[in-house]
Amino acid sequence: MSLRCLITAGPTREFFDPVRFISNPSTGKMGFALAAAAKEAGWTVDLVAGPVSLPEPAGVMYYPVVTAAEMHRQADALFGPCDVLIMTAAVSDWRPAKAAPQKLKKDGQGMTVALEPVPDIVSALAEERRADQFLVGFAAETEDVEANALDKLERKGLDLIAANSVAGAEGAFGSDDNKLILLGRNGFREVLGPAPKAVVARQLIDAIARLVAARAAS
Ligand code: CTP
Repeated sequence: MSLRCLITAGPTREFFDPVRFISNPSTGKMGFALAAAAKEAGWTVDLVAGPVSLPEPAGVMYYPVVTAAEMHRQADALFGPCDVLIMTAAVSDWRPAKAAPQKLKKDGQGMTVALEPVPDIVSALAEERRADQFLVGFAAETEDVEANALDKLERKGLDLIAANSVAGAEGAFGSDDNKLILLGRNGFREVLGPAPKAVVARQLIDAIARLVAARAAS
């Protein structure tokens, strides 16, 4: 089946002056591996990525962004024609309430940066979805991995969630290997890996293709 997918990857950066920001350690490896695997499966791929140091995967439409707001705008613009959305991006949950236009000067004192919540991109897209679109989220958890992931599946209106533990030595950030627990509707559960991210990515694309085909046939 030839599908069109939109994949988001990497971290976002939220600035409080022109040279300083808050972010997270996401490297984008999982999202890029998924883009390559989807392309390999013959899908049309739009890849929206925050700042990463990875080569652009061949044969995909690549949209680099920096902030969560830019990622939101870009994903929103590409969401309509996609059959599958895979949201691997580690979107910042908070951003500075205001950003200084010039570099802040230090004065030997401490400083407090007020943060405001960042709107949830995948939840917003889920609200405008068509019934035939298939939405996949990722859940980075440090505890109660499956229970928290199932809660996100429901809360964010997703069809499938790929849960991974980002705690301690098992941590997924930056690692070349990954283990994912896929949780879906009607009790669907499948474990992928631990294996190199490229292998896990192929298995996830395959699982999505199966679930989309099963839904279309039902
Ligand atoms: N996500 C999003 N927009 C945000 C934050 C997260 O679209 N502002 C998406 C992520 O891309 C991922 C899913 O939501 O697919 C879950 O992300 P995660 O960071 O695990 O969950 P949060 O909603 O941030 O919840 P928490 O931080 O409480 O675990």
